[in-house]
This record gives sequence, structure tokens and C-alpha cells, in this order.
Amino acid sequence: MMKEKLGKIRQEFITALTAATTPEEAERVRVAFLGKKGTLTEIMKGMKNLSPEERREIGALSNAFKEEFEQMLAARMTALESATIEKRLAAEWEDLSWPTGLSRGAAHPIAVVRRRVKEIFTSMGFEVLDGPEMEDEDYNFTKLNIPPDHPARDMQDTFWLDNGKLLRTHTSPVQVRGMLSHKPPFKFIAPGKVYRNEAVDASHEHTFHQIEGMVVDRNISVANLIYTMKILLSGIFEKEVAVRLRPGFFPFVEPGFELDIHCLICGGKGCSVCKQRGWLELMPCGMVHPNVLDAGGIDPEEFSGFAFGLGLERLVMMRYGIDDIRLFHGADLRFFTQFSS
Ligand code: DAH
Repeated sequence: MMKEKLGKIRQEFITALTAATTPEEAERVRVAFLGKKGTLTEIMKGMKNLSPEERREIGALSNAFKEEFEQMLAARMTALESATIEKRLAAEWEDLSWPTGLSRGAAHPIAVVRRRVKEIFTSMGFEVLDGPEMEDEDYNFTKLNIPPDHPARDMQDTFWLDNGKLLRTHTSPVQVRGMLSHKPPFKFIAPGKVYRNEAVDASHEHTFHQIEGMVVDRNISVANLIYTMKILLSGIFEKEVAVRLRPGFFPFVEPGFELDIHCLICGGKGCSVCKQRGWLELMPCGMVHPNVLDAGGIDPEEFSGFAFGLGLERLVMMRYGIDDIRLFHGADLRFFTQFSS
């Protein structure tokens, strides 16, 4: 009777173990049969109530079964464990040599240099201002000392809009907005897009970028202007850059200048890039015209200032030795991906 019971337990054990598909399930089978309250364990515990002959027979049999169960369990456990690992490996397998198809992006060279210019000016305490690209004639011209019918209006071919406004031809209108919204002393730059109705060639675009700059305080002089520009240029070109001023005409400054820098290629000795002149024209600038200060609500008797209009494309072209402005608006990724920092 005991013998049959043991035989049945063995059958149940084999069925349960075969049905186990994970190491955890196999462990549950072990507990159910060989654990403290397992079926086989209970039989062995109950042996003391048997007659001595039965005890010998059943004792031997259940010991043999216990050993067999343990061997079967160990074998099953190993098989299930390696199956689990195989399954994970199959699920998580990755071909590390497979191309991902993702290439690294890069910032536009204009953005790279604009970011750097902003850093340099903000480190000198300049504020960064913004202004609208659709401007009033008053701000773009009149308040900058360019009255209607003044010939200087023709210096900049303007895109006029149906609503009577225009696309700003330079960032200088932000000077007016800055003066009207700030009390001197102040210093700010205003980066942005500007538009000119002109034919596109290797050095002209209808849409380009300028960074306007303006400093107004008591006793501001040309020396302040030169110093500020030298800080900017050594920051951009990562070396000392010699500068010089030549007279230049702009209605909103008096005196007005063209700021030149020593040719970056030959260092001033003369080469093909600077056409043997040793100097490159970089940026117009000047001392703010009293009429402009006046239009901005600032007393020109008390305050003076300097201003400049940096052409960003020109600066970028010099910085990286690019010779065609049209590349900036093109879509040639071979060009753009060269500028990544
Ligand atoms: N607004 C001028 C232009 O686009 C550039 C300019 C010249 C800006 C002299 C200035 C300046 O602030 O002082 O042609």
C-alpha cells in the first residue's frame, strides 16, 4: 500500500517537473516534494509508525526516490537555467557593427560665431536686445538722421511692404528702440537678420545678419570703441588682431569710420587675400550723431556714445576662410558639417 503510494508520488513528481518551464517553477516542485512539508518528506517522517519490515522496505525505496528526485531536479534546473540565458541572449542580441544611420548634426557657422560674439559682449556687461524685422520707416531711417528724400536712403535698397512698413535694411533701428527704452549709461548689442533688395552674387545676399552695438555714457570716446573691438576680435580670432580706423560716412555717426583689421593670412605683409594691402575691411562704426541721441531722448550735451554694425557673414567668412556668401543659404551639408563647435 505504501509502495503504491510512493509510486504515485514518483509519477506526480515526474509530471510536475516536466511541466516546469522556469527555474522558479522547478524550485516550487522541489519544495512540494522534498521541502519540509513535501509529500515525500511526509512519508519519510511517518515511517516510525510502520512495522520493522515495512520500514526497511519503504525506507530503502523512499531514500532511493529522494536521491533520484534530487538528480532529476538538478538536471532539470541546469537545463532550464541555460534555456533562460539563451532566451535572454536571443532577445537582447545586438549587432554592434550595424550602421545606425544617424550622423552628427552641426550648428550653422553663422550661429556658431553669433553665439561666440554674444558671449564676448555679455562678458563685458553688454545686454542683448532684439527688434522686429518688419520695421517702421521712422526707426529704420528718420530717427537715424536719414530724413525722407535724403540720398542715403538709396544706399540701401529697401523691400517695402503693402502695409507701409519695410523689412529692416540694417539692425540700426534697434539703436533707437534701445535708447527709448533705456536710461543712460547703457551698452547693448542687437543681433538679427536684415534685408536688402539687391542682386545676389558671391559677396551680396538679400538676407543677411548684422550685430548692432551701442554704448552710451558720459565721456565715451573713440578709444573706448577701439578697445571694445580689440576684445571682440581677439576673442573671435583667438589671437591679437591689429586694427585701424579710416574715415567712413554714415548719417547716424559723426565721425564715422571703417574699421580695418590686419590681414589674418599674411599678418599685414600683403598677400592675395588682402590684395597686397595688408588690411581687410571689417566693420563700419562711429561716434553716435547728436541728432540720433536726441531722437532717442538722450541729451547729447551730457552723453556721448559709439555704435557699430558688424556684418556677421563677413566675420564668419574671415574666421573660416569662406569665399562665397551664397554657401550660407545653400543646402550643401558637406559645407555645414564642417562647423561643429
Ligand atoms: N547700419 C549700417 C549698415 O547697415 C552699418 C553701421 C554703420 C552701423 C555705422 C552702425 C554704425 O552702428 O555706427 O550699413
